Amino acid sequence: MFKLTRRQTIQTLLAAAPVAAVIDAFLIEPNLLSVTRREITLPRLPSELDGFTIAQLSDFHYKPDKDHDLMVKAVHAVNAENVDFIALTGDYVTDDSAVITPLMEHLSQLQSKHGIAASMGNHDGWTHSGDYYRKIFTKAGIPFLINQNTELNIKGTRLHIAGTDYVWLGSPDPAKTLKGIPANSPVIALVHEPDYFDTMRAIRDIDLQLSGHTHGGQCRVPLIGYAPVKVKYGENYVYGHYQEANSQLFISRGIGTSGMRVRFACAPEIAILTLRCAI
Ligand SMILES: [Fe+2]
Repeated sequence: MFKLTRRQTIQTLLAAAPVAAVIDAFLIEPNLLSVTRREITLPRLPSELDGFTIAQLSDFHYKPDKDHDLMVKAVHAVNAENVDFIALTGDYVTDDSAVITPLMEHLSQLQSKHGIAASMGNHDGWTHSGDYYRKIFTKAGIPFLINQNTELNIKGTRLHIAGTDYVWLGSPDPAKTLKGIPANSPVIALVHEPDYFDTMRAIRDIDLQLSGHTHGGQCRVPLIGYAPVKVKYGENYVYGHYQEANSQLFISRGIGTSGMRVRFACAPEIAILTLRCAI
């Protein structure tokens, strides 16, 4: 029987690794939905909201012929979590605004205890007006926040949700977005491009900003997690949880892909964030 030496085995594995990586990146990983769970302590969160859960979904870049099953899995996974709130942080489409219609067939099935809110991504803005998307989301019962905020009333306490316009060639207005929110009230801000975090927190402390845009780098170096490809307005903050002074930021890897449908060491993600008050 043919038998490899240890050295030959290692050489064979090393030779096969690039092929396996390409198969993973192009055929497997873009369809491999993952659920990330994080606890984030917000010092100003009222004790009544301790344990409040948010599902964040971002960067769908929906392609009906390729992403249908992925979105069915995503909606099923979110609904199984029975979360308090769902945040959608933009880039529903890539370059064809018409695919928002089949995507809404999925998004309109999302369920949460205290509602859903959505904000605008740069690709959405590059293909159509904010009013176009706002009308479609509103019809589905999902507030679409463009430089405005809304208020949740839960157990007699308030939580403000604010959303900006997209940043890259859009018209974000942080002051207008945060207008009317009392200075000591916690705010969750939906801002597609994460680097805008520094502009937002210059206006006031942002208890938690939720962003997407970077896709976590889309292809990362395994184990190290380094993302070599940077995108404009996603260069300083790329993926995960950040804190600067009294403001915090979480960036999702998103669900879809732009450019080539490729992901490596950076699977599509639903983020389930559990908010904790300081004890
Ligand atoms: Fe995106």
